[in-house]
Amino acid sequence: MTTLPEGFTILALETSCDETAAAVVRDGRTILSNVVASQMDMHSRYGGVVPEVASRQHIISLVPVVREALAALPGGWADIHAVAATHGPGLSGALLTGLNAAKAIAWQRGLPFVGVNHLESHIYASWLDTGGREPGTGGRPPAPGPWPPIPGPSLPAPEFPLVALVVSGGHTLLALLRDHGDYTILGQTRDDAVGEAFDKVARILGLGYPGGPAIQQAAQNAQPAGALPRAWLRDSYDFSFSGLKTAVLHKVQERQERELRMPKLDAKPKTDRPVSGSQPSAPSPPPALDAVWVSQIAHAFQESVVDVLSTKTVDAARQHGATAIILAGGVAANTRLRAELSRRAAVPVRFPPIALCTDNAAMVAAAAFYRFQAGAQSGWDLDVTPNLKLGMS
Ligand code: KG4
Ligand code: ZN
Repeated sequence: MTTLPEGFTILALETSCDETAAAVVRDGRTILSNVVASQMDMHSRYGGVVPEVASRQHIISLVPVVREALAALPGGWADIHAVAATHGPGLSGALLTGLNAAKAIAWQRGLPFVGVNHLESHIYASWLDTGGREPGTGGRPPAPGPWPPIPGPSLPAPEFPLVALVVSGGHTLLALLRDHGDYTILGQTRDDAVGEAFDKVARILGLGYPGGPAIQQAAQNAQPAGALPRAWLRDSYDFSFSGLKTAVLHKVQERQERELRMPKLDAKPKTDRPVSGSQPSAPSPPPALDAVWVSQIAHAFQESVVDVLSTKTVDAARQHGATAIILAGGVAANTRLRAELSRRAAVPVRFPPIALCTDNAAMVAAAAFYRFQAGAQSGWDLDVTPNLKLGMS
């Protein structure tokens, strides 16, 4: 354990997927700047992240994003004491851009450098002190957040032991944290990650990318009708979402087949004799899905996911005597999951404001602070590890 000087300020970079992000955080908790350049529009036309496009865009965005993050500091570079970057898990080409940029900055300025695990950083987003407000991104002023899990201007740092539910586009896991850096994986997905299931189901329902916010919005306006299955995987904290996704696909296919069989009111009367000059008809495209029905399926899907995630997380927290539950990762932005988990849990549920749930660099700086405090530093030979696991550094 190293006692870091008060005011210890970290510049962190995050480029594991499709957000180019830089942030400056003081004492592991106070966000001085948090800049995120999203590539969402670029990837949405392909229905998902295209790795090569992501890497190229990171290279273009990195320098302006770092400049903007530094612009918030009165002393500029002189205010930075250390540098950090995500080195895994994630897309290898994308990770390389941020990791190499961070190493170059640290080397050139003679600063200590540490590589950070992306999953760990999502958890550490709950250590950031945002004073009860959504922090601004991209230089915009902070806006009030719909977010007070515990009221008050500043939440104290979470205390161990903790149970963390990490739910993102690539990962779904439940972990027990006994101390900084001390992780035990209690359960994880056996197939699709939750965010991946949201994205795939949204595509099946024609709701677009990214699927999470689209499904949440569709579900908000739904009149509930019927339930979808839940994979409980009893006596285990593991998860499975691919059966649920397939159940949605079958519902969509059944509905489209039924609609194709239904006689149309304006259809011409059937005749045995071919009408002269008529052409054999082309196969009909699948009928467009009715928006009301889509919102009901989106609602049932979201309820199924939220039920399983909440039940297992609350059980794990009870079993391990957790002082609080930490909800982390992009899917932690889901308002239904936040509300249901908070309603069921006997201990406080901590989740970051939405801007800190999805990928950002402030959370990387928060995780890096505790790594520096533990005496960790990475060498210049640190490489990207696209399949890095939680608990590995
Ligand atoms: O953590 P993240 O930004 O990137 C990864 O590390 O994967 O998570 C992205 C995932 C996407 O699958 C997206 O659909 C999901 O988070 N997501 C949501 C919501 N907002 C983002 N899922 C459900 N509800 C939301 N409101
Ligand atoms: Zn992430």
